[in-house]
Amino acid sequence: MSESEETGKAPTSIMEVSAYDPEARDNPHPKMKRLRETHPVLRDEPLKTWLLSRYDDVRATVNDRTFDRHPRNAEPGSMLSMLGDPDDPEGKRTSILFQDDPDHARNRLPLVKAFYARIKKMEPEIEAIIDRVIEAAPASGRFDLMEEIAVPLPIAIIAHILGVDENRLDEFRDWSEGVILGLNPARSDEETNYMTASADKLNAYFTQLMEERRVAPKDDLISDMVQAQADGGDFDDDELRTNLQALLVGGNLTTTDLIGNGVWLFLNHPDQLEALKADPTLASQAVEEVLRFEAPVQATSRVVSEDRDVAGCPMKKSQPVFMLLAAANRDPSKFEAPETFDITPKRASHMSFGGGAHICIGAPLARIEARRVYQKLFERYPSMTLPKQDIVWRALPFFRGIERLKVEV
Ligand code: HEM
Repeated sequence: MSESEETGKAPTSIMEVSAYDPEARDNPHPKMKRLRETHPVLRDEPLKTWLLSRYDDVRATVNDRTFDRHPRNAEPGSMLSMLGDPDDPEGKRTSILFQDDPDHARNRLPLVKAFYARIKKMEPEIEAIIDRVIEAAPASGRFDLMEEIAVPLPIAIIAHILGVDENRLDEFRDWSEGVILGLNPARSDEETNYMTASADKLNAYFTQLMEERRVAPKDDLISDMVQAQADGGDFDDDELRTNLQALLVGGNLTTTDLIGNGVWLFLNHPDQLEALKADPTLASQAVEEVLRFEAPVQATSRVVSEDRDVAGCPMKKSQPVFMLLAAANRDPSKFEAPETFDITPKRASHMSFGGGAHICIGAPLARIEARRVYQKLFERYPSMTLPKQDIVWRALPFFRGIERLKVEV
């Protein structure tokens, strides 16, 4: 850590610890550390937002089901309220990501049940897709790991789980990349048009698939969900389509970054890579340590539902609370040597998948994918190295991932 990072001023705004800030974009951790040490409960008045960074506060708040989640419950003018969709007052286009009970539980429970059963059933097929993609990457020379492996893999896997037809896979990939732009508030007009057109095409395609599977079910998640609906499931077609799309938006970039961040970390820490190769039983712990050390999603949020104390501070109804998962993950009160990437000790649970009612629904899938990718990749390329390059981190606020990662095999 440079001297200026050690002695720099403590952040006073949530923006200073996000990828909007060039220094935090390259490395958010020194600023998050200072924030956690000096202002563990920060009030960002211009953005009308609270920011928590200590592990215990973050854990207690994500787990507390009395908070709200939907941006429309957040104070007007606050950072979270800007994420609401003014054209959707009834919340029909709001996925479980931002729904509150009873809608959240009504939509999430049947989806979780079907999705987890699918992942369990399809694990061998998921692993086979991973092996195929890695085997198709160049056998020697230099290539961009993100382009060849980390970006295409999660899309191919979710397409297979959902039941996307093989001959529509290229279009599906294109639309998925379009809708993911919804996560980027700084997108250009051209990107916004691409995003809207992609969402329309994806909606039409999901509508078609749902109709087809009602008539002729197949072995896929869309068939499971239309069957669950026919069996009395209390969700309509709009809700189902929105939540199936949430699997794309929530799952692709995040898993891409878990793969990229992990390969980058292992190649920069050869002792850890050796430890993993020497003891494959460390595979799950290795994934958890990558998630802890470079969390692909750096923050999540809740909304105060009635005046109360949170993390020892009086807060008002409708004030948003942002929680820095990445700062909690390096809290020394919870993790020994938190600034060291070390896969060998059994550590406390990290916060990277959030918690409580909204805990990431895709966590089991992301874990399966990352475990298999690390194993298969370092098996196929035992002498993979990182050529000299400038690592460019994504400019997307509160996401942490690498744009391009050149590797030499
Ligand atoms: C490394 C990969 C991933 C990370 C780091 C991640 C992280 C997160 C986080 C932090 C949340 C919010 C939790 C909270 O507020 O308590 C979340 C929610 C969610 N994630 Fe993930 N995620 C990942 C992969 C996936 C995958 C693979 C899928 C689907 C295929 C997915 C779908 C979702 C959905 C639908 C939600 C909303 C759940 C709800 O609000 O009920 N995620 N994820």
